[in-house]
Amino acid sequence: MRVVFVSFEGIDGSGKSSQAALLVDRLQTSGVDVVSSREPGGTALGERVRELLLGAEDVSPWAEAALFAAARAQLVSEVVAPALERGAWVVVDRFLHSSLAYQGGARGLGVDAILELNRTAIGGLLPDRTFLLRVPVEVALARTADGRRDRIESEGAEFLTRVDSAFEALSVRFDAVEAIDGTRAEAEIAEEIAVRLGLL
Ligand code: ADP
Ligand code: TYD
Repeated sequence: MRVVFVSFEGIDGSGKSSQAALLVDRLQTSGVDVVSSREPGGTALGERVRELLLGAEDVSPWAEAALFAAARAQLVSEVVAPALERGAWVVVDRFLHSSLAYQGGARGLGVDAILELNRTAIGGLLPDRTFLLRVPVEVALARTADGRRDRIESEGAEFLTRVDSAFEALSVRFDAVEAIDGTRAEAEIAEEIAVRLGLL
């Protein structure tokens, strides 16, 4: 089966944005029609929700989960569904599994409850393949040490460790979620992803 909808997941600093960009470049170089986006954001409404989510001082856990789901619903209807309908590939930097790991796992709302909320919001449109970049929490923190951290990224190592465990559990539970060793050189990781997608 041809893979067309791919998401990248991992803790902040795992290298998912870099790998999403490398995959998009590879596809474009091969002449493939590809649409890329990021979460939260990717639409005008989503960018406003992103500001609310990452800038606000005090956001209750369920408000956070519902706002991420709202941004995702908009991204699906405005960007993902139209692209898939015309036969394009879609590559997203974070999607549903971020909510499952951060809100469902690390915030303790429950993976199944967040899955249910998002299934309703996005009408069951799930990625064909999700690459989960895994690096030890200390490595991820060191990679992001000099940048400014947003409200969620500022939670610290203990929170990121919970997110990481939740992501790992998702890769065990869902066949479409594939863990990738993110500690290697960028080009090597990109090559493995291309092989797994049948592009090489
Ligand atoms: P994320 O999107 O997961 O937060 P990024 O792709 O933005 O991660 O990468 C975070 C930082 O780590 C960047 O400075 C990037 O250049 C660096 N980086 C990404 N992939 C690797 C890698 N495989 N090895 C070393 N550094 C990396
Ligand atoms: P993002 O901008 O992707 O961070 P980065 O580029 O540094 O990886 O995401 C911002 C934060 O939002 C990040 O800490 C993860 C969090 N997040 C959730 O908690 N739930 C979600 O559903 C999504 C999409 C992101």
